[in-house]
Amino acid sequence: MHEANAVHESPRAGATFVRAYPRPAVGCPAVKPFFWSDNLMSKLKIGVLGTGDVGRVLASGFAALGHDVMIGTRDPKGEKVTAWVEKTGAHASAGTFAEAAAFGEALILATLWTATESVLRLAGEENLAGKPLMDATNPLVFSGKGPPTLAVGHTDSAGEQVQRWAPKANVVKCFNIVGNPHMVNPSFPTGKPDMFICGDDETAKRTVTALCAELGWPTIDAGNIEASRLLEPLALLWIQLYFRSGNGGHAFSLLRK
Ligand SMILES: NC(=O)c1ccc[n+]([C@@H]2O[C@H](COP(=O)([O-])OP(=O)(O)OC[C@H]3O[C@@H](n4cnc5c(N)ncnc54)[C@H](OP(=O)(O)O)[C@@H]3O)[C@@H](O)[C@H]2O)c1
Repeated sequence: MHEANAVHESPRAGATFVRAYPRPAVGCPAVKPFFWSDNLMSKLKIGVLGTGDVGRVLASGFAALGHDVMIGTRDPKGEKVTAWVEKTGAHASAGTFAEAAAFGEALILATLWTATESVLRLAGEENLAGKPLMDATNPLVFSGKGPPTLAVGHTDSAGEQVQRWAPKANVVKCFNIVGNPHMVNPSFPTGKPDMFICGDDETAKRTVTALCAELGWPTIDAGNIEASRLLEPLALLWIQLYFRSGNGGHAFSLLRK
């Protein structure tokens, strides 16, 4: 049986996992990342494009789980970034946006919306190719008073724009519907919140689902990347409730029967 199609017994009783792509040989450029269909079987290299609260929180969360994380920035030797690397420990490093994109088998995009196109250009199209790119951005416009609005919506979205700017990446909208303090191991007395995701590539969504599960998030797949038109306004609802209540102690959960 070809390595790429090998079926492996899961350590979890009763389940099998299909290796979707072979692990690239040492020294070969990684065309496709290595992952399992619904549960990660090994630690990934994760490239995080963005050093704001979202980038650092998610990078710290994945490093704490044993994944090797490189955070990308314009200034890898800057004080904020070097302090984060030192505090986070052995699994953390910093590089340029291009270095972080090249390093990651899976990538996170956590940039100021207005800088996102430039960051993706700096990251380099080939460094993004074939990789799941978790897009946490929201295209927010702040007027100075009251909650922000969206720079794009209804017939387009940031998620779709990101996919156009990074056509070879497998963009999965993720992490945009909740404040960063809840992004790792969300804990609410009334139950677990859900992470809504969307994207065009099913395999990338399975990788993202497995990564979200490691951070304590059940995921709900809302469909293709066009569903970002729904998930980005959902972030505005989260922000509106933040403005009204004065705190960010909320997240979304879908009830089913
Ligand atoms: N804050 C939250 O809780 C939250 C929750 C959900 C979604 N989001 C969304 O997640 C994204 C990240 O938010 P954030 O608050 O963590 O960080 P942010 O302050 O919005 O963005 C920080 C990142 O943007 C980069 N950046 C800013 N201006 C740039 C420029 N001119 N050229 C290149 N790069 C530039 C910075 O690069 P350097 O590292 O080089 O400085 C930094 O890495 C945003 O789109 C936001 O709407 C935020």
